[in-house]
Amino acid sequence: MSAPNSSFDPVEVTPLHPEQVQIAVDDALAAVAAADDLEVLKEVRLAHAGDRSPLALANREIGALPPQARAEAGQRIGAARSQVRAALEARQETLHRQRDARVLVEERVDVTAPWDVRPRGARHPLTTLQDRIADLFIGMGYEVAEGPEVEAEWFNFDALNMPPAHPAREMTDTFFIDSPDSGVVMRTHTSPVQVRTMLTETPPICVICPGRTFRTDELDATHTPVFSQVEGLVVDRGITMAHLKGTLDHFASAMFGEGIGTRLRPSYFPFTEPSAELDLECFVCRGDSVGNPDRPCRTCSSEGWIEWGGCGMVNPKVLIACGIDPDQFSGFAFGMGIERTLMFRHGVEDMRDMVEGDVRFTVPFGLEV
Ligand code: DAH
Repeated sequence: MSAPNSSFDPVEVTPLHPEQVQIAVDDALAAVAAADDLEVLKEVRLAHAGDRSPLALANREIGALPPQARAEAGQRIGAARSQVRAALEARQETLHRQRDARVLVEERVDVTAPWDVRPRGARHPLTTLQDRIADLFIGMGYEVAEGPEVEAEWFNFDALNMPPAHPAREMTDTFFIDSPDSGVVMRTHTSPVQVRTMLTETPPICVICPGRTFRTDELDATHTPVFSQVEGLVVDRGITMAHLKGTLDHFASAMFGEGIGTRLRPSYFPFTEPSAELDLECFVCRGDSVGNPDRPCRTCSSEGWIEWGGCGMVNPKVLIACGIDPDQFSGFAFGMGIERTLMFRHGVEDMRDMVEGDVRFTVPFGLEV
C-alpha cells in the first residue's frame, strides 16, 4: 500500500463527496420515514446505519485522507451519521408508541369477565354439616345408619309408639305415597332408622342417622317440605339420661363452641319416656336479654334459650316392638334438624336460601368437596 498522497482531494473520493453523502442521508431518511413497523425499521437501521452502510463506509475512508482533510470530512460524515441516527431513534420511539397503543386495544383483558366458564362445583353446606356431624359421632365410636326415604307407615309411626290416631299421622303433616291407606309414606323424621337398626342389630348399639325427611309444610323462612335431620340412638345395659346429657353437651360444644350452655326441658314424644327438648343457651345474647327490656334479643325472643331438638330415653314399648328386652337394656335417642343447626351456626335467617340453589348463598361457605 502506498503512503497517503499529499495532493489527495477528499471530494475526489466518491463516498466522501458531499453530494454522495447527502444522497446517502436522503436515502436513509426516506427509508426511515417509510418504515411502518419495528421489523422494517430494524432492516433500515442495518442498511443505513450498520457497518456496511454507505455512511459507515464513507467514515472508514476518512482515515485514508491526508491529515488536513480529515477534520472537515470527519465533521461532515459525523453530522450526517448523527442525523440518520436521530431519525432512526425518533422513528423507533414513534413505532414503539404505536405498537403499545395497538397492543393495549388488541390484547385487552376484561378483568370483569367471568374467570371460569364452568365454575368448580362444591358440596352444599347442608351436606357438609351433615358429614361433620357424622364424623363427630364416628369419632365417639358410633356407626352411620341409613334408611329409605320412602318408608312403611309401620316404621315411621307404629313401631315408634304412634298409634293410628296420633296427630303426626294426619294427612296435613305426611306425604302419602298413592293414597292415605297405602301404608307407604315419605318419612316424616329419621326416627324410623332407629327401628330398622334395632331390628337388625343387637345391643350395644351406637348409631347416628343423618338424612332427608319430608312434611307437607309450605316453604317459608322457617319451614321447608324437604328438610334434613340427624338421629342418634344408643342402646346398651345401664344407659341413663346422664349419658344422654353428656353426649348432647359434647355435640353442642362441637357445633356452637366450647362451653355453650344446654338444658333439658320436659316434653313429650311417643317414642321416648321420659322425653325432653334440648335447649341451647342463646349464643347471641348469652342470656343477657332475659328480664332486660333495654337489651332485647331477637334470636331467643329474650328468653335466653333456643330449642335445638328432641331427645329422651327410648320408650320400652319401642324396645319391645324391636325385639329388645327392656328389662335388660335401656337406650337414649335424640333428633335435631340440620337446617336449624346450620341457621344457628352461620346466622342464616331464611331457610329458603338453603333450598333454592342460588350459588351466591353457598359460595361463601367455601369450596369444600
Ligand atoms: N323425631 C322427632 C321429630 O321429628 C325428633 C326426635 C325427638 C327424635 C326425640 C328423637 C327423640 O330420637 O328422642 O320431631
